[in-house]
Amino acid sequence: METYDVMRTTFAARDFTDDEVSDEVVYRILDNARFAPSGGNRQGGRVIIIKNPDIKRQLGHLCLPGLRVYREQIRAGESPWQSVTKTVVDVEAVAADVSIPTIIPMFDNLQEIPLVMVVAVDLNFVASMDQNLDRIGVISGGSIYPLAWNILLGARNEGLGGTLTTLIATAEPAAQELLGLKSHEAVAALLTIGKPKKQLTKLTRKSVEEFVTIDRADGQAFTG
Ligand SMILES: Cc1cc2nc3c(=O)[nH]c(=O)nc-3n(C[C@H](O)[C@H](O)[C@H](O)COP(=O)(O)O)c2cc1C
Repeated sequence: METYDVMRTTFAARDFTDDEVSDEVVYRILDNARFAPSGGNRQGGRVIIIKNPDIKRQLGHLCLPGLRVYREQIRAGESPWQSVTKTVVDVEAVAADVSIPTIIPMFDNLQEIPLVMVVAVDLNFVASMDQNLDRIGVISGGSIYPLAWNILLGARNEGLGGTLTTLIATAEPAAQELLGLKSHEAVAALLTIGKPKKQLTKLTRKSVEEFVTIDRADGQAFTG
C-alpha cells in the first residue's frame, strides 16, 4: 500500500473474522515495525505475543474495571481517565461494579481475537525528560508508542486491522504477574489484531487548520 493510504486508513478495528494471522505475517510485521525510534535509541521495548486463549481471556477481564470507570466518566460528561481535574466518579466503587455493562465487547472475550500482543517497555532504558514537571508524564510513552503504532501500520499494510488499547495499564501489577514482567517493565499497550469484518476508509479527524498554528499556540491557523 501507499504510505499515505496506510496512514489515513489505519482505524481502530475491534471486530474481526475468524481468519488466523500466520506467524509468518506476524514476523514480517514485527521485522518492519522494529525500526521505530526510541529516546537515545535505547530500544527498551518488548512485545509478548499471546497465543494461550486463557491468558488472552484473563487479560481482557483485567481491562474491565478500567472500562467501567471509562463508561461512567463519559456518562458524567468527563473526558475519561483525564488527569487534570478531579473526577466526580467514585472510581473504586465503579471499577468493582460488575452490573455496569461492557461498552467495548471485545474485552469480554479477548480469547476470540486472532492476534493479541502486549507491548511493554523497560523503564531502565527510557529517558523520561518530563519526570520533574508537576504534571502527568508524557515523554516516556514516546519511547514505546512509535513501535506499537508501527505494528498497527504494518498490520494494515498486510490487509489486517487492529486497535491500540491501554486499559490494561489500569491493572498493570496483575498483568505483569500474569505475563512474567518485572515492576520496572511498564505495560504500554495491548494490541488486538485480525482481519477486520469491515474496513473503514473515512476516519473522523480534525483538519490541519483546527490544530496547527503559526509561531504561538494562539497564532494564526496554518492553512498551507
Ligand atoms: C493511546 C491510545 C489509547 C487507546 N486505548 C484504547 C483502549 O484502551 N481501548 C480501546 O478499545 N481503544 C483504545 N484506543 C483506540 C482509540 O479509541 C481509537 O484509536 C480512536 O477512537 C480512533 O478510532 P478510529 O481510528 O477508528 O477513528 C486507544 C488509542 C490510543 C492512541
